Amino acid sequence: MIRNVLENPMRTTTQKLSGLAGVLAAALAGAACTGSTTTGDDAVGDDDVPVDEWDQKLAEREYDYGAALRIAALRLTGQLPTLPEIKAIADAGDVAAQKVVYESFVRGYLDTPAFANQMVRFWRDAFKMGESAMLDTAPVFAAQLTVENRALSELFTATTGNCPTFDAAAGTFTAADCDNGVTTHAGVLTNPGVQAHFFSNMAFRRVRWVQEAFACTAYPAEVAEVPVDMGGAQAYSSPWPFESIAGRNNGGTVDFHDTSAVVCANCHSTMNHLAPLFANFDDQGQLQTTIQVKTPNDGAPDAKLTDWLPAGEATAWRLGVPAADLPALGAAMAADPKVAECTVARFWNWGLGKGDIVDTLSIVPSEVIAAQVAAFQAGGGTLQDAILAVYTSDDFVKF
Ligand code: HEC
Repeated sequence: MIRNVLENPMRTTTQKLSGLAGVLAAALAGAACTGSTTTGDDAVGDDDVPVDEWDQKLAEREYDYGAALRIAALRLTGQLPTLPEIKAIADAGDVAAQKVVYESFVRGYLDTPAFANQMVRFWRDAFKMGESAMLDTAPVFAAQLTVENRALSELFTATTGNCPTFDAAAGTFTAADCDNGVTTHAGVLTNPGVQAHFFSNMAFRRVRWVQEAFACTAYPAEVAEVPVDMGGAQAYSSPWPFESIAGRNNGGTVDFHDTSAVVCANCHSTMNHLAPLFANFDDQGQLQTTIQVKTPNDGAPDAKLTDWLPAGEATAWRLGVPAADLPALGAAMAADPKVAECTVARFWNWGLGKGDIVDTLSIVPSEVIAAQVAAFQAGGGTLQDAILAVYTSDDFVKF
């Protein structure tokens, strides 16, 4: 908020540059955004080469490491920088020298107990859960991975230590295993708090959580190049074969083939291939040997496999990416570049003071964070390095 609204009007223009986010932001603000490209006539140049007004404004920004440190300290530690820190930047000399001092302070913040506490808060927000011993285990695990600069992939593939505890006063983590009857864990995907918190009919709320937390969009998750007219209210837009999920005509008791009002399969083609993987956890997050979730049909009967998928159809993360169990799902998600981009986008929005990427449609255009995402993936997906990349980017330190 502070960064965005009070200190740096250019923050919003960064996102106005392109995409839906920009259109929405402009529309919501009622801004007089009469097209972002102007010609040489009303811009500085005398020639006829079109000049992008926003590019020009972005280029006019100047480094201000003092201002950047204020925001970095608030985000990373919850405190303002100290007076000696502020002075050290002011007295450092030229911009290059200030950059060195600034980056050393930012690195220092990442080593503090306060940062560990900020990370627990960050992941509670991202996961929409926490603040009881069980509900904190997933956000605390993500915070531990971040503080220890471990890889994002562990969030989906770690087999031990997935339910750590956190000592807020000391800012330290103590590894502990989750105790919910799972033989082979898969990071937070088998976490008891996640399963309990997002328990619902047909396990769809758990599947929604996985999508929104780690792929950063609401459903539908998959969109075909060419939508198919099914003679219904809308076109069928998912790449999955229509008959690859259950409906009343192929063994199911819920009609996911319905197209009369909305095309259920646009979302449920992906969702139904995922939900059976989460179906055996009960409302306390314990894994059982049988399906624990119900259908919304009369009498709330237990769901059967054939309610999601026709016989013989396998579970999957995406079309062409099968996932036979939760460890396989974890491996598929760890390898998905969209999941990597989503994580960087979440750090980006937090650094630049935006709201939740899904709830507030604070979409970060891929090109805005392309450099950070590329570095993140090249470096093995280490989480603290991703944060450092955001806090040292030009968009963060120029005003
Ligand atoms: C835009 C995507 C989308 C479409 C279209 C859609 N759903 Fe869903 N559906 C979801 C999501 C997401 C959830 C999980 C909601 C939650 O619990 O947070 C869900 C939940 C459900 C549930 C469980 C709800 C409960 O009782 O708790 C059923 C059953 C269901 N959908 C059936 C259908 C059917 C049938 C259609 C078509 C008529 C349909 N859905 C269309 C996304 C969609």
